[in-house]
Amino acid sequence: MVAERVRRVELSGIRRMFENAPPSAINLGLGEPDFDPPKEVVAALCAAVENGMNHYGPTAGLAPLRDAIAERYRDRLASTARENVIVTGSGSEGLMTAALTLYDPGSEVLVPNPGFVLYAPHARLAGAEPVAYPLLESRRWQPDLDALERLVTPRTRAIVVNSPGNPTGGVYSAATVDRLVDFAERHQLTVVSDEVYDEIVYEGRPASFWGRSERVVVVQSFSKSLAMTGWRLGYLLAPAALAAELSKVHYHIMACPSTPAQAAALAGLRSAGPAKERMFREFAARRELVIDRLRRIPGVSVVPPAGAFYAFPRLDWAASDTEIAAELLGRGVITTPGEAFGTRGRRHLRISFAASRTDLRRGLDLLRELADEGIGRTAR
Ligand SMILES: Cc1ncc(COP(=O)(O)O)c(C=O)c1O
Repeated sequence: MVAERVRRVELSGIRRMFENAPPSAINLGLGEPDFDPPKEVVAALCAAVENGMNHYGPTAGLAPLRDAIAERYRDRLASTARENVIVTGSGSEGLMTAALTLYDPGSEVLVPNPGFVLYAPHARLAGAEPVAYPLLESRRWQPDLDALERLVTPRTRAIVVNSPGNPTGGVYSAATVDRLVDFAERHQLTVVSDEVYDEIVYEGRPASFWGRSERVVVVQSFSKSLAMTGWRLGYLLAPAALAAELSKVHYHIMACPSTPAQAAALAGLRSAGPAKERMFREFAARRELVIDRLRRIPGVSVVPPAGAFYAFPRLDWAASDTEIAAELLGRGVITTPGEAFGTRGRRHLRISFAASRTDLRRGLDLLRELADEGIGRTAR
């Protein structure tokens, strides 16, 4: 009954962990801020609903929001305009729209390993083949550019990049971005750049791919920066001609994005700065706490995340990451086994610090207990 393309994809490992967890569990597993959206943003959503913004809107989004988004990118590309922006019903929908617009059946798409759980299934759903390229822990999770050169074939159509990265927290250096752009240009690939964590950075400012090449599509979301994951809103940036094609697919997926959520996001772009700063400062403090505690656990090493809100420690223990995550779940703590993000995620756990300091302390104490009990006996 079910189409072949659907049989080729599985439910994400993140969702599976969450669905198996008791309701009282400490959740260090899910990728969403534990904050409410800024009050200006909530007020704008309520006002929009009360004032009758409850109907379909334009496919590519409300003009004032598209203009405000374009404005945000003018320092990177002065000509960025409304025509470059399509407001989507989340980053996830933006990724799917990009996949269906760009990947032909039988083509190959380079995806990061370890990498976010949607990239490979989306390639498969579009009929393409995902080809994993390594991110190097030894180089703070920058992509292995030599490996990329070896993996490219005449069928390669696109490369998905993600900086700041989920699950690694890696942020690509300006030199890495330059080399990736050059790589894509030489092989005539489209760069699908997932930049949904671009405002959550602890070291420097991440280099956006926007404006670097005519071959770039940026995927963005309001989920993380405005803590509005449940309202489902994001956007795509692309050269105008490509944006028109993306918009066609976006129309066939969802007709138009949520109208009141767009009013909320516009308020967020205009006036939520201080609330966002408070949230980002709290993430930074938790990051210190998490790194410090992890480093005190035997057999655990961690590259400090430069962005996003995940630590991705390596556990050189006898048990596998899936066994460790299952043991933690049994004790009431949700984490995500690194394997959910690809083969190079093995021996790692993703610990989200979008959770309270109390929960982080309790969760990491339990991880320490596992180490002390011998479950964490080192593998070598
Ligand atoms: C790297 C990355 N891209 C995209 C998304 C999708 O976010 P949303 O669909 O909520 O906009 C997520 C969510 O976790 C993510 O981590």
